[in-house]
Amino acid sequence: MKHILLSLFALFTTISVHAEDGHQLWLRYQPVNKAKVLCDSKSATIQIAKQELETYYNGAQIALKLDATMPDDDGYRFDGSTLSARREAGLLYGTYALLRGDMNMESHPAYDLRLLNHWDNLDGSIERGYAGESIFWKIENAQLSTFNAQLIEEYARANASIGINGTVLNNVNASPKMLTTPYLKEVKKIADILRPYHIKVYLSINFATPMALGDTKTADPLDKSVAKWWQKKAKEIYKLIPDFGGFLVKANSEGQPGPGDYKRTHADGANMLADALKPYKGIVMWRCFVYGANHKGEDRVKQAVSEFKPLDGQFRDNVILQTKNGPLDFQPREPYSPIFDQIKQTPNMVELQITQEYLGQSRHLVYLAPMWQEFFSQVNPKQLRGIAGVANIGLDKNWCGHHFSQANWYAFGRLAWNPMLPSDKIAREWLQQTFTRDPQFVNTMAQIMAESREACVDYMMPLGLHHIFKFDHHYGPEPDGFIKSYPLEWCPVYYHKADKQGVGFERSSKGTDAVSQYRKELARTYDNINTCPENLLLWFHHVPWTYKMKDGSTLWESLQFHYNRGVITVETHHNIWHNKMRHYIDEQRWREVDDRLHHQVENAREWRDTCLKYFGQFANE
Ligand code: GCU
Repeated sequence: MKHILLSLFALFTTISVHAEDGHQLWLRYQPVNKAKVLCDSKSATIQIAKQELETYYNGAQIALKLDATMPDDDGYRFDGSTLSARREAGLLYGTYALLRGDMNMESHPAYDLRLLNHWDNLDGSIERGYAGESIFWKIENAQLSTFNAQLIEEYARANASIGINGTVLNNVNASPKMLTTPYLKEVKKIADILRPYHIKVYLSINFATPMALGDTKTADPLDKSVAKWWQKKAKEIYKLIPDFGGFLVKANSEGQPGPGDYKRTHADGANMLADALKPYKGIVMWRCFVYGANHKGEDRVKQAVSEFKPLDGQFRDNVILQTKNGPLDFQPREPYSPIFDQIKQTPNMVELQITQEYLGQSRHLVYLAPMWQEFFSQVNPKQLRGIAGVANIGLDKNWCGHHFSQANWYAFGRLAWNPMLPSDKIAREWLQQTFTRDPQFVNTMAQIMAESREACVDYMMPLGLHHIFKFDHHYGPEPDGFIKSYPLEWCPVYYHKADKQGVGFERSSKGTDAVSQYRKELARTYDNINTCPENLLLWFHHVPWTYKMKDGSTLWESLQFHYNRGVITVETHHNIWHNKMRHYIDEQRWREVDDRLHHQVENAREWRDTCLKYFGQFANE
C-alpha cells in the first residue's frame, strides 16, 4: 500500500512533464491535507481504509467504526463524521465511496458475490483478451513467480474501489496444471496480496484434472478414487489459502471434458466437487454455456434450458449455476437467457462479458452499462445470487487497451453493487474521476457513451440479427460465412437464414419454438411478429423483405436505415472528439482515443457496406 501511495504522489508532482498513459484508471484522488482518522483496529483492511482517508479525504476528521448492529453484509453507513460498517470490508467500500464523492448515507450491495472472471491461460495469453498478456501468468512451465506484485496490488485497489470482492484467476478452458502444487503456491501468493482488499480468489478447473495428471484412471464423478482425489486437492488448497472461494466449471462445452463423458449429469459432476469444497465453505459455479454434442439439430439457444431444467432441484446447496446474460453468446443485443425463468430451485448467477469480444474488442468505444441494464430490466436482479464479469484487463499500460474500455470495468463493479444505478450516472462518475470534472466535457462524453452501444448494434447487427462475425476472432463482418467442416452453429448463415423470401431465424411456435422457454406473457409477445419488439425481430422471426415496419418502411429499408444510422453516429462521435475534446484532456489519451475512433468509423463502414451488399442480393431480387 505504501508503495502505491508513494508512487502516486511521485506521479502527481511530475504530472506536467509525464506522459499520461491511463494507468491510474479512475483513481486520481488528490492529496488535499492530512485528515485525522480515528480508529483503533490494526486489521490490514482497515489500515488501508485509514491510509486512503488520511491522504485523500477532503475533511479534517473522520472516525471508522465496526458496528455489530448493522446488516451482515459489505455495506456501510456515513453520518457526516463516522463511517460505520458491520464488516471490515464495509469500511473499505465506504472509504472509496467517500473519496469518489458519493455521499449516500447508507449503502448495501445487492450481491455477496461480485466477481471478475479472467480467461487467462498459464502461458500468459488471454482468451478474448485485447489488452496485452495476463497480469497473473506467463510462460507455462518456466519460472513460476512471474507476476508483478505491485501491479497485482494496484489491481486489488482498483477492484476494491468499485466493490468487486472475488476473482477467478484462469481461463474457463482450464489447464489441468492449474491445480498442481507449484501453481497453487502462486495462487497463494496472489491471494495474500488480494486479501487485505477483501478479494477472494477462485479457480477455473478442468473437470478431467485427476486423470489428465495421471493420478486416476478416470474422471467419472461417481468413481470413488476421483471423489477422493478432489477431497485431497481441496484440503491442499485450503491449507494454502484458508479463504479460497471455490471453483468455476465449464464442462461438456466446446470440447471441454465433463461428467457427460461418463453418462453422468451436470448435477453428478457439480455435486461431487461441491462435496469436496463443502467442509471449507467453498462454492461451485457451474456454467450453463453448453451446446452441441447431445443436441443434434436443436436450436442452439434452446439447449441450455433443455439440459439444465430437468436437473433443477438436484444440486447441492453450495452449487450456483452461472449463465451468460443471453442464450447465445454475448452478442451486441440478445434477449435474456430463459434459464433465469426456468431454473427455480438452484441459485443463479449471471455472467456478463466486460471484454468486448463481439462489440469491437478494445478498438471500439462501446459503453456496455446500457446493455447490462437492459438485462436487469428483463430479469429481476433479486432473483440472482451473484454476478460475474469476464475481465478486459491485461498488461497494457492502460489495463484495458482502449481508455474508454476502462469504463466497462468500472461500470461492471458499480452495477454488481447496485444493478439499479442508472448507466448515465455511472458514466458521469467515471468521466469525472478519469478525465476532468469540466461539465462541457462530461456532458458531451456521457452522451456519446450513452449512444455508443446502440450505434454498435446498428452498424453490426440491427433488428435482432446475430452472430454474423468473421470466424474465430469475431472481429468484422462475414454474413456469407459457412465452413462445411465447422459445426453449423458457428456459421453466420445458420443465424440469419437470408433467402429470397426474407431474413431472420424463425424461433416462434411456427419454427424452433424457442419462444416457449420464456415466461408466458413474454412468450406470447415474442411469438407474434406484430408484437415482437422490432429490435429483436430477426432473432425470433424469418421476416419478408417487404414486411411493413411500425414506421411504414419495409424491412429492407429499415435495415438500410439502421446500418447507415450506426455509421453516421460513430462519424459524429469521432468528429466531436477530434474537433472539440482535445483541449480538455492530456494529449496522449486524446490522441490514442482519436486513433481508435478513426479506426472504429472505418470498421463501422465496412460492416455496413459488407452487410448491405450481401443482404441486398436477396432483398433486391
Ligand atoms: C465464447 C468464446 C470462447 C469462450 C466461450 C465460453 O464462445 O468465443 O472463447 O471460451 O465463449 O464462454 O466458454
